[in-house]
Amino acid sequence: MDIITTPSYEALSKEAASYVSRKVQENPHIVLGLATGSTPTGMYEQLIKDHITLGTSYRNVTTFNLDEYVGMSKKNPNSYYAFMKKHLFQHIDIQNEFTFIPDGMSGDPQKECGLYEEKLSKHGPIDLQILGLGANGHIGFNEPGTSSSSRTHVVELTDSTRKANSRFFKGIEDVPTHAITMGIDSIMDAKEILLLVAGANKREAFEKLLYGEISDNFPASILKKHPCVKILADQSVLDTSSIIA
Ligand code: F6R
Repeated sequence: MDIITTPSYEALSKEAASYVSRKVQENPHIVLGLATGSTPTGMYEQLIKDHITLGTSYRNVTTFNLDEYVGMSKKNPNSYYAFMKKHLFQHIDIQNEFTFIPDGMSGDPQKECGLYEEKLSKHGPIDLQILGLGANGHIGFNEPGTSSSSRTHVVELTDSTRKANSRFFKGIEDVPTHAITMGIDSIMDAKEILLLVAGANKREAFEKLLYGEISDNFPASILKKHPCVKILADQSVLDTSSIIA
């Protein structure tokens, strides 16, 4: 794993965006794997700026999002569909039919997982997968204990993940209990992975990732087996003085 630290979240976002936009320019038909959450929003902002000022085009780019809440309509502002539209897609020239996100409203979520895998096989492999890191080590919504051979599947979210994500909702009771997520093996199929880690609340998880053993109990640890992983971490992940005891 190639680890790069940046002095701030802004610097991390700029570094990540310039890496992604370079990849898009090199390969206009690139397939990107995308994440939601707080960590990549700065990178998306920078990608939009880059699209507007330098004209990097996404017309031929295909994207696959990692996950979506079960039972969440696209119109719900907390859906990952709405998130992607707001933070990236509506600001760039990507074609809607090339942006894939699991359908949280499918009447048969298990079937939807199979369909998503079919789309990944048809349009993939993912050239560059962006990931954030859960404080409990999850990647996508693959919670601790998920098998490293998992493909796209329905998960029951842990209380800690629902609590962490409740900041976007009125309260924890509004956070869905289940999600569809690409599996660990589906993520590991990506040719290259860019993991973004920011904020003091990720310090423990980051340490575990670097120094802990590879275990299903800490899903991100499997990334150590991937041949091409780049990690961008901001100073707050490393700086002990930023941790409030
Ligand atoms: C989001 C996702 C999650 C997040 C993780 C970190 O699509 O799959 O694994 O990347 O929960 O979230 P933030 O960035 O909000 O701390």
